[in-house]
Amino acid sequence: MQFADLGAQFRAYENELRGEMDKVFASSAYINGPAVGELEEQLADFCGASHAIACASGTDALLLGLMAKDVQPGDEILVPAFTFIATASMVSFYRAVPIFVDVDPVTFNMNPDCLEAKITSRTKGIIPVSLYGQCPDMTRINAVAKKHGLWVMEDAAQSFGSTSPAGKSCAMSEMATTSFFPAKPLGGFGDGGAIFTSDDVLAQRLRVLRNHGQIKRYHHAEIGINGRMDTLQAAVLKVKLAHFAEEIDLRNQAAARYDALLEGVAERPVLAEGYSSTWAQYTVRVSRRDEVREQLAKAGIPSAVHYPVPLARQEAFASLNQDGGYPVSDDLSSRVLSLPMHAFITAEEQETVVQALKDALA
Ligand SMILES: Cc1ncc(COP(=O)(O)O)c(C=O)c1O
Repeated sequence: MQFADLGAQFRAYENELRGEMDKVFASSAYINGPAVGELEEQLADFCGASHAIACASGTDALLLGLMAKDVQPGDEILVPAFTFIATASMVSFYRAVPIFVDVDPVTFNMNPDCLEAKITSRTKGIIPVSLYGQCPDMTRINAVAKKHGLWVMEDAAQSFGSTSPAGKSCAMSEMATTSFFPAKPLGGFGDGGAIFTSDDVLAQRLRVLRNHGQIKRYHHAEIGINGRMDTLQAAVLKVKLAHFAEEIDLRNQAAARYDALLEGVAERPVLAEGYSSTWAQYTVRVSRRDEVREQLAKAGIPSAVHYPVPLARQEAFASLNQDGGYPVSDDLSSRVLSLPMHAFITAEEQETVVQALKDALA
């Protein structure tokens, strides 16, 4: 059994994928080929942002966002304590300071109640994460940001395609970033990402920053990076995006099946009212997690832990001295367990997973 069956997905769209890749081979336009612009338009349409700027990874998308907001050394940026490291590491990489905020015990997302206590005169922005595919309460986060004059950039690496009462993921705040890492709900054949905004000026700046700060060939207005997406990745993503709405439905059917099978077995994920998810992960909470994982592995069931260490406790952030005061993140990191989840998982496979989990928990 596969945790995310990329092979099944490839087989389902193989002819289309090969056709689009062949077009790139025939054109030799490997950098900035037409597929990149086409994908950008389709991504923007899908989520309702005015602009999508394709880039080399979700990590580069975060970095580009920080560059476009002119983040300065020492600026403080609020990030959840429980997420993948890139959300906070790009802040540190850019010589600013990530300030960790604990998460909500039900949705696992940045807790708006914990935000204001962390705001100082140095705070410049907030990067909420839409973890496992569910958006945080962006209405409240945006309101806190507005009150304190902060920018908001949603890290939607796991949630492109999700919806919330504040709108669609990637179109709920001034900027948003996503990742097309292969195992993401919308994943490429390698690294890729995008940054979204409905601000025309910001979009133009992001495009320049993504390509060495270049405004005209070999004329550079500012310092940028090579954060471009390869044409081949764009061609692959165009094919997968055409099937994405259907895959989101299938993922939701799989999540509903898990919900039914796991009643009374483990603590199941909860979608807040009015929210939909792309189920980047289907994550339960169990006790004796590491032992349970071992037993699942023996039964041939792959599982994963997103994430075993809250960011504030990562060695890489030790110098920040912020390693206390995140009770929810601490609890989650010791108990979360992600189960196999993808659009092609069968009901039988899910039954096998749940039976193995029951056995491991007995
Ligand atoms: C929440 C979050 N942010 C950022 C990233 C970074 O994306 P990428 O791997 O495309 O650089 C990821 C990818 O795993 C992620 O899950």
